[in-house]
Amino acid sequence: MNEITIIKPDDWHLHFRDQDMLFETVPATARCFERAVVMPNLVPPVTTAALALSYKERILAARPAGSTFMPVMTIYLTDKTSVQDIKDAKKAGVLAAKMYPAGATTNSDSGVNSLESLYPVFEALADNGMLLLIHGEVTQKHIDIFDREKEFIDQHMVKIVERVPHLKVVFEHITTKEAADFVLSAREGVAATITPQHLLLNRNDMLDGGIRPHNYCLPVLKRSTHQQALRAVVKSGSPRFFLGTDSAPHAKHRKESDCGCAGCYSAWSALELYTQVFDELDALDKLEGFASFYGADFYGLPRNTETVTLVRESWEVPSNITLPNGELHCAVFCW
Ligand code: DOR
Ligand code: ZN
Repeated sequence: MNEITIIKPDDWHLHFRDQDMLFETVPATARCFERAVVMPNLVPPVTTAALALSYKERILAARPAGSTFMPVMTIYLTDKTSVQDIKDAKKAGVLAAKMYPAGATTNSDSGVNSLESLYPVFEALADNGMLLLIHGEVTQKHIDIFDREKEFIDQHMVKIVERVPHLKVVFEHITTKEAADFVLSAREGVAATITPQHLLLNRNDMLDGGIRPHNYCLPVLKRSTHQQALRAVVKSGSPRFFLGTDSAPHAKHRKESDCGCAGCYSAWSALELYTQVFDELDALDKLEGFASFYGADFYGLPRNTETVTLVRESWEVPSNITLPNGELHCAVFCW
């Protein structure tokens, strides 16, 4: 098959950043995604309805002329988030709240320290029909970085899902067989996003023969058995797994550094990379569900009606992008 037409996809997890950067990231995503769930880890973070609404305006102003692209806004949970914050967010049209354990990843310093005290907020999310989006990694430094997702399931995820049975939970950017198995066997209302890099790469692609900082993201790439487990669940066509790129741009000098930051900017190539994975798996018939249906269904939003056509041809993805201010950004990961 050299050409495939599918309903236009959505990206259920990405990082647009802010200000001038939006004029790079928003068109890149609007190129082939109709909607995107926008992560709130700005500095300072998007913690309230008012901040989410003004961020949304800045995103809309960065759309290319004629684009119908729509951001789906989220707020960032902190130790101080209140039930009233959730009610206000609901009123403002915010669909979801993102929970970062404090210190788990880029710009998560204001994240949650005491998960236990957030249960009233989780209840409020459920009562208001909003989703809880979780960065599922523990932050205890003595826990091996490759085990932090599994530990989060055991320490927290099981409890959250059981104690708030009417809450819709998205386990974001899963990277392990344990996470895939957890989602597959969880109650109704639990789903996961999967990034292109975690389907295409494993930790050898980051560490074998030299360190490749462009492939460093969080949760970190795992061993190939986990990559294979993720590939198996997308090939299965389970509606619990859908597209979320976690596209996250960083300046080149910050990624290629003695303490390089986490994140892969994949917006310019993500849909093509996912398509490559499904093609390799001989499962192109499952691409549309993963990319265009299951996320919308889980969020309770209408499916898109426009289509996109992908054509098989060789294509060199640029490795760097220069912003109008001259700053160089790494464009993709290496594979
Ligand atoms: O690799 C990552 N980069 N993981 C995250 O969770 C955050 C993201 C970012 O904001 O750069
Ligand atoms: Zn993310």
